[in-house]
Amino acid sequence: MAPSAKVLAVVNQKGGVGKTTTSVSMAASLAELGLTVLLVDFDPQGNASSGLGLRASSGDPSVYDMLLEAIDPAEVVVPTTQPGLDLVRATIDLAGAEVELVSAFSREHKLRRALDALRPSYDVIVIDCPPSLGLLTVNAMTAADGVIVPIQCEYFALEGLGALRRNVDLIREQLNPQLEMTGFVLTMLDARTRLSQQVVDEVRAHFGDRVFKARIPRTVRLAEAPGFGQPITQFDPSSRGAMAYRRLAQEVVERLDTRVAQQQMSDGQGAVA
Ligand SMILES: Nc1ncnc2c1ncn2[C@@H]1O[C@H](COP(=O)(O)OP(=O)(O)O)[C@@H](O)[C@H]1O
Ligand SMILES: [Mg+2]
Repeated sequence: MAPSAKVLAVVNQKGGVGKTTTSVSMAASLAELGLTVLLVDFDPQGNASSGLGLRASSGDPSVYDMLLEAIDPAEVVVPTTQPGLDLVRATIDLAGAEVELVSAFSREHKLRRALDALRPSYDVIVIDCPPSLGLLTVNAMTAADGVIVPIQCEYFALEGLGALRRNVDLIREQLNPQLEMTGFVLTMLDARTRLSQQVVDEVRAHFGDRVFKARIPRTVRLAEAPGFGQPITQFDPSSRGAMAYRRLAQEVVERLDTRVAQQQMSDGQGAVA
């Protein structure tokens, strides 16, 4: 039987909360675990692409061509420096799709259709969403099995999450019945501050065991890695940021019931360090 990827959309309509950092670092960590992973850059800013040293320019083959069904999806996939991790790049052209798709037939299903052709080749597909709940994010959640929400540990961390959850519910009711809330991940945590601890407590009170145990610390190495075009797992493999994202990847595997989790279960093996 051909493997069929689990698709995860990394969503939060706020900018700067760690969506791209989480998408890239988690995807690389999942690949390290032995999964075959495709990262889809779905933000017109293309930060995931440039963060992996693979920036594309307007007109280059990208997720935009996939959406408009102008290209064979396999032609848009490029390998990355991380073995097991491939990328579909985004360019600024994607900004136009939000408008161009408005009158298209079945406009919410464009990404899902395009990914159907790629799903058999991967264990996991991670979609890095733009900072809005517009048509691009709707496409991502319609294509997804699960949603991962990074939450930055700062004042007003919970603001906007009600709207996000209502959107997830709407998409489940109307477009994609199997969509799950996979989990919330706390990012940019500064363990020394009371504020961070307050946010952790507040998020836990709201979302309970949907909050991943792995918490991502605020560290300069995570902020530096994209400038070197490498995921943190390669840029600084033993850093606190890399370790935290590996723990997150392990939890994600356990929640997703993927090939590796099944293998670990049958090997009687526990979590990786
Ligand atoms: N854990 C972290 N520690 C330090 N800097 C971080 C961390 N996570 C993200 N950043 C930095 O914060 C900024 C916003 O993160 P990013 O992942 O791009 O957010 P988003 O995709 O939600 O806009 C980036 O400059 C990124 O390098
Ligand atoms: Mg981003």
